[in-house]
Amino acid sequence: IVIGIDVGTSGLKAIAVETERGAAVASAHREYPLSTPHAGWAEQDPEDFAAAALSALGELARALGPRRDDVRAIGLTGQMHSAVLLDEAQAVIRPAILWCDTRTTAECEAIRANPKVGDAGLARLVGNRALEGFTLPKLLWLRANEPEAFARVRAVLMPKDFVGLKLTGELGTDDSDASGTLAFSPGDRSFSAELLSAVGVPRAVFPRSAPSNAPLGQLTAEVAAATGLPAGIPVVRGAADNAAGAVGLGIVRPGRAMASVGTSGVILAHTDSWIVEPEMRLHSFCHAVPGRFYLMGVMLAAGGALRWYRDVLGDGERMAAELRKVDPYEIISDTASTARPGAGGVVFLPYLMGERTPHNDAAARGAFVGLSARTTKADLSRAVLEGITFGLADSLDLMRGVGQTNGAAAVSIDEIRLTGGGARSPFWRQLMADVFEAPVAITTSTEGPAYGAALLGAAGAGLFSSVEEAADAFVHVVSRVAPDAARSARYREIHAVYRGLYNDLRGRFR
Ligand code: XUL
Repeated sequence: IVIGIDVGTSGLKAIAVETERGAAVASAHREYPLSTPHAGWAEQDPEDFAAAALSALGELARALGPRRDDVRAIGLTGQMHSAVLLDEAQAVIRPAILWCDTRTTAECEAIRANPKVGDAGLARLVGNRALEGFTLPKLLWLRANEPEAFARVRAVLMPKDFVGLKLTGELGTDDSDASGTLAFSPGDRSFSAELLSAVGVPRAVFPRSAPSNAPLGQLTAEVAAATGLPAGIPVVRGAADNAAGAVGLGIVRPGRAMASVGTSGVILAHTDSWIVEPEMRLHSFCHAVPGRFYLMGVMLAAGGALRWYRDVLGDGERMAAELRKVDPYEIISDTASTARPGAGGVVFLPYLMGERTPHNDAAARGAFVGLSARTTKADLSRAVLEGITFGLADSLDLMRGVGQTNGAAAVSIDEIRLTGGGARSPFWRQLMADVFEAPVAITTSTEGPAYGAALLGAAGAGLFSSVEEAADAFVHVVSRVAPDAARSARYREIHAVYRGLYNDLRGRFR
């Protein structure tokens, strides 16, 4: 048995996976609050992460009964970029500043304006744009706004690393989470002394990083006593949630990509070498597969845009769902499927929360364009699903284009594996295949990043010879839909209109 722990934003999930066939045999969830002391801020108490982990591990130990002695490893994953700040005594200095906190716009501008850094320096040193969500701008914010707290900082950890510290007593991170700090060079697999000295942040505050399947330490006697698990179980560093989620879907070699539709939408493609999109519109990070990388695009409102539509305009769907006791998203998809591709000329822009990829435009807003007196409810439903899908496809198109612009081998995308709520609707799966112009697949694994963390634990503890072998053993495609060439051609035209509309409207949103 191996355990995977996902320190998420809405809560923590721990699963126990048996290592014969890879089935999850027990799971435990704990929620914790998120506070928003000012508009745009998002903070959590790191002690909540630790308490949730101990209590969830205790529940797993009870559920496993005598099989708790068979636990061979624990693997970690969690929210990316969020800064847990520790002092000399490894005590928490202030609440963690989360990935979705946008207080650091001025700091991002300062990094770009710094003559020793700028966009060219970022491209060369860390391969990623200065974005509000990333960790380094949060440290610069702390230095400017809470200098006493900043002076006490001796370690900056991601949430899963803080849980790792509590489980083992060891400070450390892994290359995939280190990549999300904006202070780490994925190509060199080390923190960039040049960048850190240019912005005046001591290198020493970042812990040692190692591959995602490298052990962090062993479960301490205290944690063993508190949870009922045996002491000494190896705790494997694990990975950023998107990287672990990809491992859990078998995205461990070139040609494979992940599409994840939760509140946000993520497109992630495995690459063997480190590739930077020239305008850095894609994130370019170390993968959880040692020595490998991924490109990622993030849409801020994917499932979030669909939820908005259901809540504000989808009354009929909601009532029908209640009567028929089915998922309201299924009804929206059913309704949408009765309209024709192109939604009767209606185009939906899903930028309800601004957009990260490809526009990096916090001021962007959503729109329905092309309404007519003949527009039906089915057209609107279809336009929403099409718009979200075009938004995801924008990231895929950047990935496909990247090799052609910087001379590297083009990124090939032969199959896209789905996870999250968007994977449930057969209509949406076909729409994705048609718009993505690639086969779209569903796999056996439905547990998300926690499953990938368990696989990393299994590989790290030596139950498999590599992360790829662990994924190959447990993750299988259960269904696949192919794109339809005629519909793909039609969607290519509508996608061009969608793109043009953002360009026309950019700067006019209020
Ligand atoms: C990725 C990102 C989010 C978090 C969610 O860059 O900010 O997907 O990883 O936990």
